[in-house]
Amino acid sequence: MTQFNETELTEAVVRSFDQAPNPRAKFLLQELVKSLHDYVSKTGLTFEEWEYAIDFLTRTGQKCTDTRQEFILLSDVMGVSMLVDAVNHRDREGATQTTVLGPFYVGEHKVTAHGTDISPNNQTGERMFVQSRVTDLKGKPLANVPVDVWHADDDGFYDSQKANYDEVGASARARFITDSDGRFFFRTILPCSYPIPTDGPVGEMIVQTRRHPMRPAHVHFLVNAEGYEPLITHVFMDGDKYLDSDVVFGVKDDLVAKVEPRNDPAMPDGTKASGRWHLMTYEFHLKPGGGMAPKPLGTKAAEPA
Ligand code: BEZ
Ligand code: FE
Repeated sequence: MTQFNETELTEAVVRSFDQAPNPRAKFLLQELVKSLHDYVSKTGLTFEEWEYAIDFLTRTGQKCTDTRQEFILLSDVMGVSMLVDAVNHRDREGATQTTVLGPFYVGEHKVTAHGTDISPNNQTGERMFVQSRVTDLKGKPLANVPVDVWHADDDGFYDSQKANYDEVGASARARFITDSDGRFFFRTILPCSYPIPTDGPVGEMIVQTRRHPMRPAHVHFLVNAEGYEPLITHVFMDGDKYLDSDVVFGVKDDLVAKVEPRNDPAMPDGTKASGRWHLMTYEFHLKPGGGMAPKPLGTKAAEPA
C-alpha cells in the first residue's frame, strides 16, 4: 500500500499520466493536475466547498442543450475565453483585434444584398447605417469575402433567443459578400447593451457575487477570407457605459467605433432617412494564414490535433 503526503500525492497523479501516447494531451493533463492540486492546497478547500463546486459544475452541465452552452458562458465570465483568445493571437501585426464568438452565432447566415435593412420588423430601434471594408495588412481590398453579421435587438435579445425564431426567422443577422473594392454596407438598428443569460448557475454566480451581467452594445462580425485567419470580432459602440466592465472581458480599445448621430435626409447609399440615424464606419484588416471558421452551437467541436 502506498500512502502519500500532499506533495507526493500531486507527483503521483502527475506520473500516472506518464504513458499517455499523445504528448500534448499528457502535458495538458499533467499541468491541469498541478494547477488543481495547487488550488486545493493553497485555499485549504473544505469538504462543503468541494461539494458545492461539484454541484455547481453538475448544474452547469445540466443547463447545457444543443443551443445553450453554460460551460462556455462560465469560461467567458471567468475570463478564460478571452485568455485563450489572447494566447492564440499574440502577434496581430496591424490585423484587426479579435474577441469572443459568443453563444448567438447560429451559422447559415443568408447572403444578403448590400444596403439591405436587416432589422425590417423592428419599429422601435433607432436606425443605423453600417459601412465597412475588408483589406489585407497592406490595405489591399479583399473582394468576394463572406462576412457574417449579428447583433442584439433594442430589447437586448438576439433573434435566436426569442420564442418565435423558427416562425419569423433571422433578424439583425445576415451574410454579406464584399465587392471588388472589399466593401459592404447595410442598414439595421442601433444595438443596446444587454445581459448575458442569467437564468442558469453562471448568472446566479454573477448575481450572488455582486457582479453585473451586462455586455456593452456591439455588433458581431465573422470575416472568413481564403488564405487569411478567420476573424472573429465585435465592433463596440463608443460611449457605452459598460465598455470598462464587460462581464466577459471582451472589449479591446481598437474595437470601439465612434457611431455618429446624423440628421441628413439620406443615408450614404441614398436611402431616405426620417429623423435621427447613426453611422458606423469600421475597416477590418486580415492577417494572412489559415484556420477553420468556428462552428455554431449544436455542431460537434473538432478534436484538437
Ligand atoms: C454575446 O456577445 O452575445 C455574448 C458573448 C459571451 C457570452 C454571452 C453573450
Ligand atoms: Fe453579442
